[in-house]
Amino acid sequence: MNFNKEINRRRTFGIISHPDAGKTTLTEKLLLYGGAIQEAGAVKSNKIKKGATSDFMEIERQRGISVATSVLAFEYEGIKINILDTPGHKDFAEDTYRTLTAVDSVIVVIDVAKGVEEQTEKLVEVCKMRRIPIIVFINKLDREGKDAFDLLDEIELKLKLKVCPLSFPIGMGYDFSGIYNIFDDKVSLLKGNEIKVIDKNEVKNNISEDLNNQFIDNLELLEMVYPKFDKNEYLESNIQPVFFGSALNNFGVEDLLRCFINIAPTPQPKESSIRIVKPDEDKFTGFVFKIHANMDPKHRDRLAFIKVVSGEFKRNTPYLHVRLSKKLKFSSPNAFFADKKEIVDISYPGDIVGLHDTGNFKIGDTLTSGENLIYEGIPSFSPEHFRYINNADPMKSKQLSKGINQLMDEGVAQLFTLDLNGRKVIGTVGALQYEVIQYRLEHEYGAKCSYENLNVFKACWVECDYKKGDEFVEFKRIKQRYLAKDKNDNLVFLADSVFSLNMTIEKYPSIKFHNTSEF
Ligand code: G4P
Repeated sequence: MNFNKEINRRRTFGIISHPDAGKTTLTEKLLLYGGAIQEAGAVKSNKIKKGATSDFMEIERQRGISVATSVLAFEYEGIKINILDTPGHKDFAEDTYRTLTAVDSVIVVIDVAKGVEEQTEKLVEVCKMRRIPIIVFINKLDREGKDAFDLLDEIELKLKLKVCPLSFPIGMGYDFSGIYNIFDDKVSLLKGNEIKVIDKNEVKNNISEDLNNQFIDNLELLEMVYPKFDKNEYLESNIQPVFFGSALNNFGVEDLLRCFINIAPTPQPKESSIRIVKPDEDKFTGFVFKIHANMDPKHRDRLAFIKVVSGEFKRNTPYLHVRLSKKLKFSSPNAFFADKKEIVDISYPGDIVGLHDTGNFKIGDTLTSGENLIYEGIPSFSPEHFRYINNADPMKSKQLSKGINQLMDEGVAQLFTLDLNGRKVIGTVGALQYEVIQYRLEHEYGAKCSYENLNVFKACWVECDYKKGDEFVEFKRIKQRYLAKDKNDNLVFLADSVFSLNMTIEKYPSIKFHNTSEF
């Protein structure tokens, strides 16, 4: 098969949802269709179960599972589908944001009874910022839930999406009788455990009069209220197709998959520091979006996940590690499948390759065939928790600092160094990470740490056009206690309250305070 055909048959996407909406169940059903697994239950959820905070082995075990399920590749009707797994637990949201830099589209799963939940809002916001095409799957139609039109309104209002239903339920919960598949103009009716696909006109002979009247009214309303589907509008992120179904009962999943392979984007061009790189260019480029530490503490190597952006990635071929200006070659690059990983000789744009790493890679690093370009755009967000980290064993300060640096490269948390006294502050999205860090420092690096509370509400990256201006000098003098550097030496303001942040913003109008490191 030629290079362009390989690119065009790839779809690399992520499934995102608030925990429990059905992401794992949907993933599993998609894999079943692809023949990648033989039975339900084969995909383990990588979510950190509630109450796991104090059970380190549980966290470690689950981290292990998430390596296995980081990328799930399978084929369906000649299309190579790469699903990038995203942790649902909010303490690992940063991981999910980073994974979103490597997808070409997403499917958002929403629970029909719960509607739009907190994590859904946050994740969709990130997708919108990046203009990632979104498909919405409303799940658990077999249960009593919200009215379908109300839900569509809620999605438009809370997620600020322009929805375009491509399927619509006939009844719900107890009355759930089937789904009108707008994309194919066919109706899938539920008859006991069987699914019968019929023409729209035949519906009336198969359901009660009440339901049929409702169905006819709904069709009218759908036509009146929602835009006609236009693939380009979806690819441009101007409209978002919506599907209804029940992942658990395998209802509506195949419709979703069939439509998905038709409309979802093929690997997309990506902006680099010097130019936009197209997937069909001859020369290989790619970037690291995830690093996973080895589960076995005796082997300190890690797995760096690379998204191939352009060209072919070949085994045993030297590539330029741009940040280190160093050529590296890889004898055993891994490709991932639903149930295994395998050494591959060649990977194409859209694919994810796992490289064994002994400490060369950081999240966001670029590899190329030789060109000096960098893929930017793996932002850090303000952490929600901040604590001083102290060395609890003075004999092991080297190990501690190495451990902290490597864990930060993996993206486990963010490190800030205070301007005033050089003390180190760890910022995390969730409290869980502090325990993970402490545990890993001890078990992987032989170092001990303790934490100390620090009253910080938010980290803001500081931007000022006139660094020598009076206002900036004054700001640095007055706010010295609250200033720090992030791992890339960027200036960060650690505000201790909403009030003080607002006051500071007001007082120094020529300085900009950003919520992410990428602005
Ligand atoms: P997540 O990955 O988004 O966190 O969700 P997951 O798939 O684990 O699903 C969360 C729960 O919702 C599971 O039940 C799952 O069986 C159920 N579920 C998923 N899809 C549907 C659906 O279409 N209809 C109904 N009725 N339930 C659905 P659980 O009891 O929490 O877990 P389990 O013991 O069944 O694994």
